Amino acid sequence: MSEHEKFQDLRPDRNLALELVRATEAAAIRAAPFIGRGDKNAADGAAVDAMRKFLGTVDFDGVVVIGEGEKDEAPMLFNGEHVGTGNGPACDIAVDPIDGTSLTAAGRQNAISMIAVSDRGTMLDASTVFYMDKIACGPEGIGIVDIRKPIGENIRALAKAKGKDVSEMRVAVLDRPRHAQLIEDVREAGAGTRLLLDGDVAGSINAARHDSSIDLCVGTGGSPEGVATACAIKALGGFIQGRLAPKTDEERQAGIDAGLKMDFVYEADDLVSGQNTFFVATGVTNGGLVRGVRRKGPIITTESIVMRSRSGTVRRIQADHLADRWY
Ligand code: FBP
Repeated sequence: MSEHEKFQDLRPDRNLALELVRATEAAAIRAAPFIGRGDKNAADGAAVDAMRKFLGTVDFDGVVVIGEGEKDEAPMLFNGEHVGTGNGPACDIAVDPIDGTSLTAAGRQNAISMIAVSDRGTMLDASTVFYMDKIACGPEGIGIVDIRKPIGENIRALAKAKGKDVSEMRVAVLDRPRHAQLIEDVREAGAGTRLLLDGDVAGSINAARHDSSIDLCVGTGGSPEGVATACAIKALGGFIQGRLAPKTDEERQAGIDAGLKMDFVYEADDLVSGQNTFFVATGVTNGGLVRGVRRKGPIITTESIVMRSRSGTVRRIQADHLADRWY
């Protein structure tokens, strides 16, 4: 790229994520009183309501591609719903007011509130197939890691690319019975696992970040989460692949009918084809990606991470909020 082109590329334009962060902050703050109260629906409901209100103030024309589900079951932020003021860029939006509702209800770590955005028509709607096999890591894995290869081979190749010993490699996996063999294989290869109770969005992002202790995130999790994660991975310049994992023949057929490809390895650009993606997450409970909501007297403090693929900028935003405005 010439100097002139570089400068053109750096010309300041709008970073939508800097406005959307108010919506994830609001969702996290509203969910906070429900942390550890054992009621995940109440926590989720409070977060959804707050996120929706704040999204309504942002100048963009968003269509929810990944939301709380179908219109009949989800009163708000349902798939297909228009959000934003309707003025401004036409976008696809993925929302997860809380990724880790069970974690929140139990008072456990790693719950986040997140939003991902890309240009209209560029986000894969994978909602007909619930699960996806995924693998994610940082830029060093590009052209090296492949979901089709045995996990041990991927770990060894990534370790070499990162200049690390295999024994130093940390692999995040959702702690589920379906991953028993995978977990065994990771350990057999000589690497250590970091088992996640929930929340493979934060797990994958951590694997792609340069300053995290996780090297790789692998395993089967939600398909919508995979698509949202791809928006963040693109901003981090990292690597992600996903392969749909239908549980039944009916689900497989429903996916095919919806235009999805089975037994196909979706690369980052297949999951989200837009080159202008935004990702924002605010911590609900403390975690490796962001700290959770804290309250000290009249002040509530939130921590968020804000990313944008066009510029490759990753920002951390710590914000103090007046508690009496919120509760
Ligand atoms: P929710 O909190 O939105 O329910 O998602 C939590 C989560 O752990 C995701 O991060 C992950 O992709 C998915 O659930 C895994 O599904 P399952 O709990 O069925 O294994």
